[in-house]
Amino acid sequence: MKNYVIHDLPEYFKQYKKSIKNPKKFWDKIADENFVWYQRWNKVVKYDMENAKIEWFKNAKLNITKNCLDRHLNERGDKTAIIFEPNDPTEEAQHISYRDLHQRVCKMANVLTDLGVSKGDRVCIYLPMIPELAVSVLACAKMGAVHSVIFAGFSDTAVASRVNDCGAKVIICSDGSFRGNKSIDLKVIVDKAIEKTPLVEKVLVVKRTGCKVDFKEGRDFWLDDLFEKASPDFVTKIMDAEDPLFILYTSGSTGKPKGMLHTTAGYMVYTAYTFKNVFDYQENDIYWCTADIGWITGHSYIIYGPLLNGATTVIFEGVPTYPEPDRFWEVIEKHKITQFYTAPTAIRSLAKESADWVEKHDLSSLRVIGSVGEPINDEAWHWYNDHVGKKKCPIVDTWWQTETGGIMISPLPFITPTKPTYATLPMPGIQPVLMDDKRNEITGNQVDGNLCIRFPWPGIARTIWGDHQRYKETYFTAFPGKYFTGDGALRDEVGYYRITGRVDDIIIVSGHNLGTAPIEDSINLHPAVAESAIVGFPHDVKGSALYGFVILKDTGESRDKENLKKEINNVISDTMGPIAKLDKIQFVSALPKTRSGKIMRRILRKIAAGDFSNFGDTSTLLNPEIVDEIRDGKV
Ligand code: PRX
Repeated sequence: MKNYVIHDLPEYFKQYKKSIKNPKKFWDKIADENFVWYQRWNKVVKYDMENAKIEWFKNAKLNITKNCLDRHLNERGDKTAIIFEPNDPTEEAQHISYRDLHQRVCKMANVLTDLGVSKGDRVCIYLPMIPELAVSVLACAKMGAVHSVIFAGFSDTAVASRVNDCGAKVIICSDGSFRGNKSIDLKVIVDKAIEKTPLVEKVLVVKRTGCKVDFKEGRDFWLDDLFEKASPDFVTKIMDAEDPLFILYTSGSTGKPKGMLHTTAGYMVYTAYTFKNVFDYQENDIYWCTADIGWITGHSYIIYGPLLNGATTVIFEGVPTYPEPDRFWEVIEKHKITQFYTAPTAIRSLAKESADWVEKHDLSSLRVIGSVGEPINDEAWHWYNDHVGKKKCPIVDTWWQTETGGIMISPLPFITPTKPTYATLPMPGIQPVLMDDKRNEITGNQVDGNLCIRFPWPGIARTIWGDHQRYKETYFTAFPGKYFTGDGALRDEVGYYRITGRVDDIIIVSGHNLGTAPIEDSINLHPAVAESAIVGFPHDVKGSALYGFVILKDTGESRDKENLKKEINNVISDTMGPIAKLDKIQFVSALPKTRSGKIMRRILRKIAAGDFSNFGDTSTLLNPEIVDEIRDGKV
């Protein structure tokens, strides 16, 4: 990405203006001048926001991996593409060059072809943060298969529902994964998931922990056996601009996760452009994003954005506190990281430790530090700025979503003056608008409202896999003609945006999106539970934690309540994975409901936060007396 790099604030404003005045011309030039194409597009963008139909670079032909790998081979063949930093610091880090990565990707594409995968097929990838994860993703892209990475912390039920939803015939997993001082047997989870997935024909297993695994003859294969024999030559598939690239599941406000579908050309252009500008990536930089590739941040800013720019990107297998709480700082010093991108929840947990853990490391290589996933509070922002950035590295507080494909609102380093807790200004091409609840646009500054986006951008997800109606209803119906983000935001006196949090039934816990409905569905599976309601409450490390109000089928007097709480959390762990566990559970005799039967979550949120000051208007409640009962019985 050589062209369209922004160097100063006046240039940002100039580019921004241009991008809004004539988005087609703006994106046309970026796409034309920075990528390799087999065939050019005949229309930059075609959209119908009413019906949620969006297409970019129509009829262009390309393959994203030609842009991520092949085109770098001449100039950057020996350059390190991926640094793999293992969980155990005594295991040697791996430096994988562009040439080596390209070869591994071609071999993997041949392995997958031999297993019967062809263009358009979906492949689920359930792997820890090891190089094979990136190799699998890129191999799918090279052969035109649609990857769907499932975060390797999800339970067998969650894996099964995703595999079934996208109709994958092949799963790539590992025997197990290392996380800190624990190891998790992933293949066992896949075996259990497969009992609930009639479609799966083949399982490709990467050896990582060496744990014992059960193999089913004809279905399960060790990657090592097939990889060794695979040819390093693979003919890249020619893809259409709008061919699916990947499906990534995100929580919704109903029980079923939403398979967000991203397509090829627009996603490529948007992630490459934003990576270059938001991180100020220079040729010899070593960039590290600590997210998991199981989330969108890992897709766009560990794999695609960096590789599209010929960058060196780090894949870290471990956790921030293993073996000691200075692991992040040690890795920064060891690999001389220049850009470091992490989540507020990680910053808050490390800020709780003594500052000596940071101070004892040389972090002078750092130039830009970033934050993503949830609002960063003032205290965490300052700690990050003082101790990690040493007040010299700009913090890029990047707001975006699985659905947006890439960063939407963020400071540009050394260009946009930062302001604690503010994501600041939109990227060129992005038109944020604030809307009131009556669907009127709120103009001017020092205002707040529902955050929407006016015009499509190349990275926007195109649909929910298999359910376009849900896509349209979730994102394009609340504020007709606009994309609704589900977030609230305020705009300050100079036009900077601050994201205030979700305005829907999604709660962000340690940066993970969790819908209340799927958790409630899962709790209600416990035989003793009649009904439940989940809300978020402030937590000093996780940002928000989960609080469950649970009605038991009988009053439960005879049951051990503490045990019951454990059982409820076990059900959640089994169906969704441990990330959705409740921090607090309160047994109640009823929930506050309106006459139309809706739970008044606003009241439960206040009780969960310990704020009993003013419950507002409770006149529409069918059972107002329950509010006092719940308040007084608070655990
Ligand atoms: O509420 C916003 C929050 O995370 C949501 C998107 O979550 P997900 O799709 O998992 O993607 C996370 C990584 C891009 C948003 O709707 N969010 C994300 N970044 C920020 C944020 N909230 C405040 N500030 C941010 N920088």
